[in-house]
Order: sequence, then structure tokens, then C-alpha cells
Amino acid sequence: MPAFRVLVADDERFMAEMLQEIFEEEGMLVEAALDGKQALEKFHSSSFDLVLLDLRMPEISGMDVLREIKQTDPDIPVVVITAYGSVDNAVEALKVGAYDFVTKPFKIEELKNIVHRALELERLRRERDYLLDEIREGFCFEGVIGESPRMREIMQVAQRVAKTDATVLIYGESGTGKELLARSIHFQSDRRDCPFVVVNCGAITETLLESELFGHEKGAFTGAHARKLGKFELADGGSIFLDEVGEMSPAMQVKLLRVLQDRTFERVGGTTPITVNVRVIAATNRDLKKMVKEGTFREDLYYRLNVIPLELPPLRERKEDLPTLCDFLIAKHCRRLHKKIQGISPQAMRVLKRYSWPGNIRELDNVIERAIILSQDEILGVEDLQIFEAPLREKWKTLQEVEREYIERVTEYTNGDLEKAAVILGLPLDELQKKLASFP
Ligand SMILES: Nc1ncnc2c1ncn2[C@@H]1O[C@H](COP(=O)(O)OP(=O)(O)OP(=O)(O)O)[C@@H](O)[C@H]1O
Ligand SMILES: [Mg+2]
Repeated sequence: MPAFRVLVADDERFMAEMLQEIFEEEGMLVEAALDGKQALEKFHSSSFDLVLLDLRMPEISGMDVLREIKQTDPDIPVVVITAYGSVDNAVEALKVGAYDFVTKPFKIEELKNIVHRALELERLRRERDYLLDEIREGFCFEGVIGESPRMREIMQVAQRVAKTDATVLIYGESGTGKELLARSIHFQSDRRDCPFVVVNCGAITETLLESELFGHEKGAFTGAHARKLGKFELADGGSIFLDEVGEMSPAMQVKLLRVLQDRTFERVGGTTPITVNVRVIAATNRDLKKMVKEGTFREDLYYRLNVIPLELPPLRERKEDLPTLCDFLIAKHCRRLHKKIQGISPQAMRVLKRYSWPGNIRELDNVIERAIILSQDEILGVEDLQIFEAPLREKWKTLQEVEREYIERVTEYTNGDLEKAAVILGLPLDELQKKLASFP
């Protein structure tokens, strides 16, 4: 967690400096203001976790400063410092929304205690907001941003299948949001109170993957000191997310097929069959259909997984989503980094729209985060973006290419059933067959 940021406002310079020193020693980032006007300027141009405010200041009084602060941010704790004998002022400050007060002369320890208590409350509040955001962002469909027609379609299908136990296979390039979508599906399903377990099938060796998925018994291999439950068992009642499923070795593909067929397996080194109730969501950035043709992916496993295929489009094919995605990402990082950014300049948005985004939304996420850190301004400009790649010109496709791609998508959707495909395409069957035969 970043250091707390504190604004000290006191017109007595020595007092302001002393308070600054005291709280900097406590590890906080402290800024001092010497009158009400300065205090408000600083408050509006940056973001603070707590304000220490002397009520008696020239020009704008502390009470007016307090009112304005509370109007802008009703949650921020403000501790006021009042002169000896002005209890009325203190009471009024509390009414306006001050967290607490000390009366001059005060004991440093007393003030420190109040500040720490207020910051603890502030920390809890931040943590609560963060968790609420996590829940909203990560686990609901609202967290999957996208208004483009293709994203809407995906979200509609996802919402419908979430309620079922059907196996879902998510296709998409790296960073297009496969894991996010998988999570959304899980948390929209009746399994949401049970675990969502992630396994990256591409990241580990075959032997490790087997024990990772199915667990192992004590003594199953050197180093197996105790029984370990596998991810399928841990996900019982919930969902398992098999990421990079295209990377599995042929031997593991056979083992996975068996679990998909009857939800039964044995732990490595064990003989008792274990049955689980798990919903499977898989993802890949490979062309599994092609792998089947090439013989590197089992056809039977492909059909078991490809029950509900969802294809996440790369960002370069849904650039109309950029403004909403940017707003969402800016808000996300500003909260974390304690910055105030209003938006993106039109020129910068044009640069974002011209760029080809090979790393998709993950790359956009990084670009925005870096821009927010670098930016000196409330509007992100071209110079903050640091995108150096020469803009990639969209390659224009011929009508024939588009037709072919579309026909292939439809036949894939019907699992190769040409009669169904012909109905969807509005073509007589023999014409579809002719077209297919004409493709090189
Ligand atoms: N539609 C979206 N709306 C909001 N954020 C998104 C969206 N899609 C992806 N993200 C964010 O982008 C980042 C990458 O998403 P995610 O990890 O789900 O991608 P992935 O397809 O699994 O990538 P990889 O193939 O590299 O594992 C995450 O921080 C995620 O929250
Ligand atoms: Mg992923």
C-alpha cells in the first residue's frame, strides 16, 4: 500500500513545519500550506488521505476551507486544530464533518493517536472500495467492457450459457480477456459460491501438470511427501479454467478426455476413482481446428471442449471500444495511484485508434498505467502514451476473402454440418459445396 498523503494547513510557519516533520517521520507524505487559499489549491490539485487544519487562518478561514473540502470529498478525514478556549468552533467543525479536533496547546502524542485512528479508518475504507471494485470488475459481466457488436454478442451468449453446465471454449489472442470472461461466466453461474480454479496447462511439464490437475498420493514419486489434492478436486462444486489448453501433450489430452467424459479420475499413484462435479471452461490462443487437422490435438477432445465456442476479437478489430475501455482503465489506475486524471486528449485518442495493439487489452492497460504515472496534467496527451510502433495500416480485404472467412466461421459453428450452414448462409446446399470446393 502506498504511503498516506497528508495535507497540513497552518498559518504559523513553525507549527506547519513541525507537523510536517512529525508525520514525515511516521512515513507519510506531507504537504504544508500556510493559508486557506493555498490549502484549497493544494487540495484540488492533488489527492490526500487526511487533512490537518488550523481553524484560525487569514484570508479564507479554516472553517470555510473545511466546508469546501467536505463538499468535494465527504469521506476524507479532517482533523482540526483550534485555539484554546474556542470549544464552539470545535463543535461547529464536527458538525460540518471534521473527524476530530485538538486544542492548542496539544500533546503531540494525542494528535498522533487521532491521526492514526483516522488513517486506519481511511485504510479500511480504501480496502473496502478496492474489494467492491474487484467484485464488480472481475466477477460480473459489467467488468467485461465492450459495446462493439461482437462483444455484445459474446456477452449475450456467455450470459445465457453461464446458467448451464455446458463446457465453454474461449478463443482469443493474448490479452484479449479470456480469463476475465471465464471468471465472469463462473460468477454468473449458480456455482459462484464454490471455487473458480485456474490451471495454466502450458506453463508446466507433463508430469507436473498431471499431479497439478489430479493430485497425488503420498509416495507416488520422489518428493511426494504427503497426499496433495489436484485442481479438479479443489474445484469441486465450482469451475475449473484450463488456460492454454492447446499446449497439452498427447498423453495429457487422453487423461483430460476421460475426465470430461465421466468427471472421474485417479490421483497420481492412487487407485480409487474420484468423481467430481466441476464445470469446465477452457481457453486457447491457438487454432485448435487446425491442430486437429495437423494431428497435434485429439479430435474427440476438441469436440468435447468446443461445445460452446466463444471467440474474443482482438482489440484492433473493435477499436470503437477504445474510449470506454480507456475511461474504465483510467479510473482503475487513478484509484490505485492516487492521481486525478480527467481523460484523454482527442489527439492521443487518435494515436490509440491508429495503433494495432498486438498485446490487446493487457497492452492498453499497461500503456494507460504508464501514461498516468508520467502525466503532469489532468488530460493524458500524446507524449504520455509512449507508443512508438509505426502505425500499422489496416490491410483491406477483398469481398471474396471476407466471404470465405464468413463461410468458414459458419461451418465451424455448425461443426461441419453443411446443411445447417447452408440454411444459416441462405444458400442452396450445392452452391455452398461449390464455393467450399473453390477455396484454395
Ligand atoms: N473487456 C475487457 N474489459 C475490461 N478489462 C479487460 C477486458 N478484457 C481484458 N481486460 C483486462 O486485460 C487484462 C488481460 O486480460 P486476461 O488476463 O483475461 O487476458 P487473456 O486473454 O487471458 O490473456 P493471455 O492469453 O495472455 O493469458 C486483464 O487485466 C483484464 O482485466
Ligand atoms: Mg490468460
